[in-house]
Amino acid sequence: MINDLQINGTRLWDSIMEIAKIDALPNGGCGRLTLSDGDKRARDLFRRWCEDAGCTVVVDRLGNMFGRREGRNPDLPPIAIGSHLDTQPHGGKFDGVYGVLAGLEVIRTLNDLGLETDAPIEVVNWTNEEGARFSPAMLCSGVYAGLFSLEFALNQKDADGALLKDELDRIDYAGPIPCGEHKLGAFLEAHIEQGPILEANDEVIGVVTGGQGQRWYDITVTGQDAHSGSTPMPGRRDALVSAASLIAKVQEIALAHGPHGVGTVGEVSVLPNSRNTIPGEVRFTIDFRHPDDHILSAMDAAFRSAAEFETNVQIDIDMVWHNPPVQFDATCVSIVEQAAASVGLPYRQMVSGAGHDACQVARKIPTAMVFVPCRDGLSHNEAEWAEPEHLTAGCNVLLRAALELSAQTALEN
Ligand code: GLV
Ligand code: MN
Ligand code: MN
Repeated sequence: MINDLQINGTRLWDSIMEIAKIDALPNGGCGRLTLSDGDKRARDLFRRWCEDAGCTVVVDRLGNMFGRREGRNPDLPPIAIGSHLDTQPHGGKFDGVYGVLAGLEVIRTLNDLGLETDAPIEVVNWTNEEGARFSPAMLCSGVYAGLFSLEFALNQKDADGALLKDELDRIDYAGPIPCGEHKLGAFLEAHIEQGPILEANDEVIGVVTGGQGQRWYDITVTGQDAHSGSTPMPGRRDALVSAASLIAKVQEIALAHGPHGVGTVGEVSVLPNSRNTIPGEVRFTIDFRHPDDHILSAMDAAFRSAAEFETNVQIDIDMVWHNPPVQFDATCVSIVEQAAASVGLPYRQMVSGAGHDACQVARKIPTAMVFVPCRDGLSHNEAEWAEPEHLTAGCNVLLRAALELSAQTALEN
């Protein structure tokens, strides 16, 4: 019976397109940074949709939102489904939004069918998944899971010096519930793959078994400002020349730890950023990832030894985030796999290359993820695209997995 249920794919698609109108960009994407005015509008709309679907919405201290459809036994821990509504500065329509609205679609479908579940079902929107405005990524699901303190999150600053806590107050999303205290029994997240594997293999569902490790760094290279015309080339302390050579090293190190090692420098700032002054200071970020933490340690060591060769500048390496690889709960993964098999489309098990709220929540409660393909594996790009029928298939997997988890929770309690 569970294995015949179908969500409403048109309603899911239309909802994704509706949210995509908020902070829409000219080339089809969205620039909806966390806790911006646009994020508030997306949150308000999501809250209204949850309430229209009969859910009670509660918000925790960090703005994480939980929309609850009551179960037959309200004392059972809820089965939660969700992701994030914030985007990258040049983000797409699907990254995160799909997972939140797929959770809502599961609830809407249960309403249509008049189906009562044993455990409550909740849809979740986690705050600051992207890490584009406040670092690190997955910050508020990380606090929920006990990986960061509340104070650490509240005091994170954006590039303009705005504090996360002030921005939460400004958009009126600092809720009354202490972060981490809202009880969940299991967590499911649907997401576009953000990589090429499913598409290349003509597969529709990824049964995600875990996420790779990540290390984020802030690097400061300090040389000396000097005149570009009158300072002889020998003896210059050009911070940008050293930074450029280190940035090339990041690429080299990632390639040397292939095929799974990746390394990215996504932010650079040059001071004083004037055409005729030799740059005295450069700051840049590094994002190293690999499924094996030992290899991430080797990548870290390789970068530190490369930095030692840059002798005429000072280099400060601040590892601002070490997020070890995570394995999802075997029972949850197997329930998702059975649900994937039930939709009758090709699927595979895979490890996530991207970070997800599920990767943090998994450190606290049983968790699994469902991936669907995205065109050319492209994400964090305005052109990000997923086929409606793939989004529907992923949501059907969620629906069936959530019902099975609810039934199992009832048996166990
Ligand atoms: C989030 O999008 C991440 O993987 O960095
Ligand atoms: Mn995402
Ligand atoms: Mn993202």
